[in-house]
Amino acid sequence: MNSKKEIPQIKKDKNGQATWLVDGKPYIALAGEIHNSSSSSLQYMDEQVWPALRPLHLNTVILPVAWESVEPEEGKFDFSLPDGLIAAAKREQVRLVLLWFGLWKNGLSSYIPGWAKKASSGVSARFFRARDAFGRPLDCISPFCSDAVAADAAAFRALMLHLAEADPDRTVIAVQVENEIGILGADRDFCSAANRAFAQPVPQPVADWFGVRGSWEEAFGRDGAEMMMAWQYGSAVEQIASQGKSVYPLPLYVNAWLQQHPDRPGKYPCGGPVAKMRDIWRLAAPSVDCFAPDIYVNAYREVCDEYAAAGNPLFIPEVRATKDSASFLFYAVGKHNALCFAPFGIEDLCGKRRDEMGADLLQTLNIGAGAFDGAGAGERLAAAYEMVGNMQEIIREAHEGGKIHAFLEYNDAGVTIPLGKYDALISYTGASASFFSGPGTKDRSVAGGFIIERSEDEFLICGSGFSVQFLPKPGVQAVAGVLRKEEGRYQGGVWIPGRVLNGDEGYFIRLSDFPQVQRVWMYTYC
Ligand code: DGJ
Repeated sequence: MNSKKEIPQIKKDKNGQATWLVDGKPYIALAGEIHNSSSSSLQYMDEQVWPALRPLHLNTVILPVAWESVEPEEGKFDFSLPDGLIAAAKREQVRLVLLWFGLWKNGLSSYIPGWAKKASSGVSARFFRARDAFGRPLDCISPFCSDAVAADAAAFRALMLHLAEADPDRTVIAVQVENEIGILGADRDFCSAANRAFAQPVPQPVADWFGVRGSWEEAFGRDGAEMMMAWQYGSAVEQIASQGKSVYPLPLYVNAWLQQHPDRPGKYPCGGPVAKMRDIWRLAAPSVDCFAPDIYVNAYREVCDEYAAAGNPLFIPEVRATKDSASFLFYAVGKHNALCFAPFGIEDLCGKRRDEMGADLLQTLNIGAGAFDGAGAGERLAAAYEMVGNMQEIIREAHEGGKIHAFLEYNDAGVTIPLGKYDALISYTGASASFFSGPGTKDRSVAGGFIIERSEDEFLICGSGFSVQFLPKPGVQAVAGVLRKEEGRYQGGVWIPGRVLNGDEGYFIRLSDFPQVQRVWMYTYC
């Protein structure tokens, strides 16, 4: 008898709607990504990280496995670290998403094994480096270096082969290939292989797909350098990802350091899967299931909307860990049926340790000082995760029927949502005090949530920081009244009612600043 569970997969229905199937059932990863170095020590994980994660109601932890840790000597693999992480995750009853820190991490080659670093010096090195416009070496192995890409692909294949055998329970449910790929410090790679490629006609698949000809610059003008880098990185990732997938077809994704101020390729990693490079990345890397934004910019809503477009499932492996995280989750899940939501540095959220990131590091990483404002964030996110975790099936059904409507405050006072029988007027309760102040700058958290229409008169209202008024449709001569309003919670999809709020509290449907769900029945009279 085969005791292995089904391999997790991301499946699309005929409308292009993606579902992540884990143990054969739809899954939303209510996740957190830990700091980069935490998972390099099992002892550190046991003492500092796992205890800090327990209160958060996570079902998934996202953590790095570095090439240097599994292939310390060339050709000799040691998987004791991932094995230990898997064993601990089982004990903690969470699933894992592994981050393959191979050739590239935040544009740099900092996690490659020592033996590979030593083979990277000089223009004709075995693992030659990318170069800037003056020919100076960058701290980054060139994506044009086929030997390096082949070595990374072989190591990744070995890891995936090991997981296929050593993880029959499918504790690992997806793998990120590399991390925030791209060239930093130059607007393209200027090593000699890159210079040759830049002068040549674009590869045939690119010419055919985009209907262009000539060199990269002739074909794409000012975007030519970035398009070439995206094609090159995408092709390298395809080699790595396809080798891994050929032995163990887990879902694979690639994350992006977003295009942001200062908005010049090379200031953000040039050649990564930023939104405007989506089509070329798809062409280059068909083995990748989705392209995922790391969201440290204020334009959260726009980024979600961009990355959920054109059939790309929304998968958020990193987002600022702040008191706004809960509302951001509601928007991602309610509006875009997100597969994953994960604040970064999650072990800090319950306020135990916030020592990892000094101001200088925040500056280097270009993420701004407000990113790790964790005060109150842990409790809010834990409540939101518990709530959404217990409503997964209801949320999924609502998406299938088009009956879920999400909203997120952003420099506005509210929104009107047309429903079947009513219009729902959502007003952000703190908005008048802090109108136009934007996320991350207020004392209170950003309002956000979603409404699920259970029938034309019954609604689930989830989120925080807003009130709802149901109005009859324009032209209908009737008054909308609250028939009944209950506090409560879901437990494994079953509603457990709390107080009935039909008295003083009944006039308004108001959700406080702390995430919650209310169940409301409406009626009309005249
Ligand atoms: C984005 C990177 O992908 C992460 O690994 C981490 O370095 C964070 N930035 C830090 O903010």
